[in-house]
Amino acid sequence: DWTTGNVIDEQVAAIREQVGDKRAICGLSGGVDSAVAAALVQKAIGSQLTCVYVDHGLMRKGETEQVEKDFVAATGVQLKVVDAEERFLKALAGVSDPEQKRKIIGREFIRVFEQAQLEILQEEGPEVAFLVQGTLYPDIVESGGGTGTANIKSHHNVGGLPDDIEFELVEPLRQLFKDEVRMVGQELGLPEEIVQRQPFPGPGLGIRIVGEVNKERLDLLRDADAIAREELTAAGLDRDIWQCPVVLLADVRSVGVQGDGRTYGHPIVLRPVSSEDAMTADWSRLPYDVLARISTRITNEVRDVNRVVLDVTSKPPGTIEWE
Ligand code: XMP
Repeated sequence: DWTTGNVIDEQVAAIREQVGDKRAICGLSGGVDSAVAAALVQKAIGSQLTCVYVDHGLMRKGETEQVEKDFVAATGVQLKVVDAEERFLKALAGVSDPEQKRKIIGREFIRVFEQAQLEILQEEGPEVAFLVQGTLYPDIVESGGGTGTANIKSHHNVGGLPDDIEFELVEPLRQLFKDEVRMVGQELGLPEEIVQRQPFPGPGLGIRIVGEVNKERLDLLRDADAIAREELTAAGLDRDIWQCPVVLLADVRSVGVQGDGRTYGHPIVLRPVSSEDAMTADWSRLPYDVLARISTRITNEVRDVNRVVLDVTSKPPGTIEWE
């Protein structure tokens, strides 16, 4: 019989068997899958697990705190946070091409994560041999199956370590679909905001600013995004929509009027979509009063934004994200 309790018991036993008395590392992204995978492994092997969270400075408001505080409080997990905001912003400076942004963010992420792994290996000893990943059943089907080992190369001159460290993968969610992962997470006592989190791209807000990425623009977008999320949640629409990217058109300005004065500010795009699997999507027909509240609040509360526009494009031809 499939119950979340059975799944948890089975996986806890399997993880204990696989890892033994060795150590494991898990990267947390802030997303559901890595959080549930980490919570399961934590339940199985406790302090033999160390989680790593790379703060690239491209997260939405409150998301880093959610991992640092709420996730740690719910699981008791040992967490290493790497504050890499400055490094990412420096690498992204002057770049507006979407593909280039994605490449830079991906490259920096791997470097920072590998560095953190090496530091943990040095602190905990080289018996760290397991890498936890939140791979789901659909991920395996899509990539043609197969498990394996992750070969992490050390390009960094940290002394006393082998050049190539072989990690064996621990993938406790391999047999689960997304909704099952959420149920398991709930049963494990993870916060609702983590378990019910909508999809969010790895490159974060870096690909939701059309134009160059900098701290000021990120802060502005964080404020606008927080308002949209707050109002969608208040209206009870979270579960109806797949996700709602909020995009800053940093290279566009339009004329507005506020108080007695003329403004020349940036537009914010709302991109609410309905979807089953993100391969195709339709724009969500959100109630006008909710859209009106979001628009009024964003233009009133977010400096330099004087216009809110709604994206009414399906996928295809539009993608869900703008970059
Ligand atoms: P698109 O924009 O291709 O997005 O229609 C489809 C879904 O994938 C998410 N997305 C990403 N997720 N890393 C991720 O983990 C990425 O680089 C990435 N890019 C897009 C997007 O939010 C949507 O749910």
